[in-house]
Amino acid sequence: MENEAKKSNYSGPQRVFSGVQSTGNLHLGNYLGAIRNFVDLQQDYDCIYCVVDMHAITAWQDPEELTKNTRATTAGYIACGIDPEQHIVFNQSAVSAHAELAWIFNCVARMGWLNRMTQFKDKAGRHKENASVGLFVYPNLMAADILAYKATHVPVGEDQKQHLELSRDIAQKFNNDFNVPAFFPLPEPLILGLATRVMSLRDGTAKMSKSEKSEYSRINLKDDADTIAKKIRKARTDPDPLPDNVAGLKDRPEADNLVGIYAALAKMTKKEVIERFAGAQFSTFKPELAELSVSVLAPIGEEMAKLMADPGYIDNVLRQGAERARAIADPIMAEVKKVVGFII
Ligand code: TYM
Repeated sequence: MENEAKKSNYSGPQRVFSGVQSTGNLHLGNYLGAIRNFVDLQQDYDCIYCVVDMHAITAWQDPEELTKNTRATTAGYIACGIDPEQHIVFNQSAVSAHAELAWIFNCVARMGWLNRMTQFKDKAGRHKENASVGLFVYPNLMAADILAYKATHVPVGEDQKQHLELSRDIAQKFNNDFNVPAFFPLPEPLILGLATRVMSLRDGTAKMSKSEKSEYSRINLKDDADTIAKKIRKARTDPDPLPDNVAGLKDRPEADNLVGIYAALAKMTKKEVIERFAGAQFSTFKPELAELSVSVLAPIGEEMAKLMADPGYIDNVLRQGAERARAIADPIMAEVKKVVGFII
């Protein structure tokens, strides 16, 4: 394990939890920053991987699209190598513990804490008064997702680090407020691998994201080989050849991003990539990157398409996953209610 977990005084079972929103298409950033690590963690942990449809509706979603996207995200998990037999895959809204615990955490978290969340500021932008209340308390629901299972380890991309810190603060405050030391673990973020923040192919200073308008800003996991190659070909670059050392990527965000993507896909270090392509023009580097990307990603897209052709199978995976998730979360919720003083 690259990030050895820091020890807390929590002595319960070690458990991995993470989630991906069912909005838009899964992209290369989701894969390299999160889902590929979800796959690797299956070796060493009991894992719970959630499709967070309740987080998705913090911004309005067309109901039919939401259903489709929840299935597509599930298909993406499985196509990338998550095993829904060995581990748990389900959609958030199917397990009521998430909403119940989120309400309790709404009463534990402080306004000041949420006011500091940069993702809310980014997403709400200048129209803060018009943002949904759900978007504001989004991190409390995220804490509830994790702690409804007393999960100890949470693999995420770099952009979720602040939310994870808030989850730890909520867990700690709950334990203190109710005088139940170590009741909730302080969940440990696992920000793993070489591409914890993949940038847009159109702008090396902006994060690759589902909400960016241009399709050319991201590679979707469901893209076919031609589309992947075309997007790499059209990726923005600067006019200089690649440098002969990693320091030479400084102040060249697009070059740095493409080298980082190559490194992550090839499981090499950036230094190794730079050594291989020192002095090369992008006209040489891009076809190599396209070939590598197609070899890793196109089979995932093909598998997703096959899975999506059988929505009955996907829905069954989610249903069975939700049942197994409830079996863990419900007894924890019963304990939480007792701690809070609710009659059950
Ligand atoms: P979401 O759906 O925005 O993204 C899912 C995962 O993908 C990572 N990610 C990236 N990593 C690297 N580069 C990028 N450009 C990039 N874009 C996205 C994210 O960091 C994330 O790990 N709030 C979460 C979902 C969530 C969750 C949770 C995660 C809800 N409850 C509980 C962990 C635990 C989100 O919106 O992720």
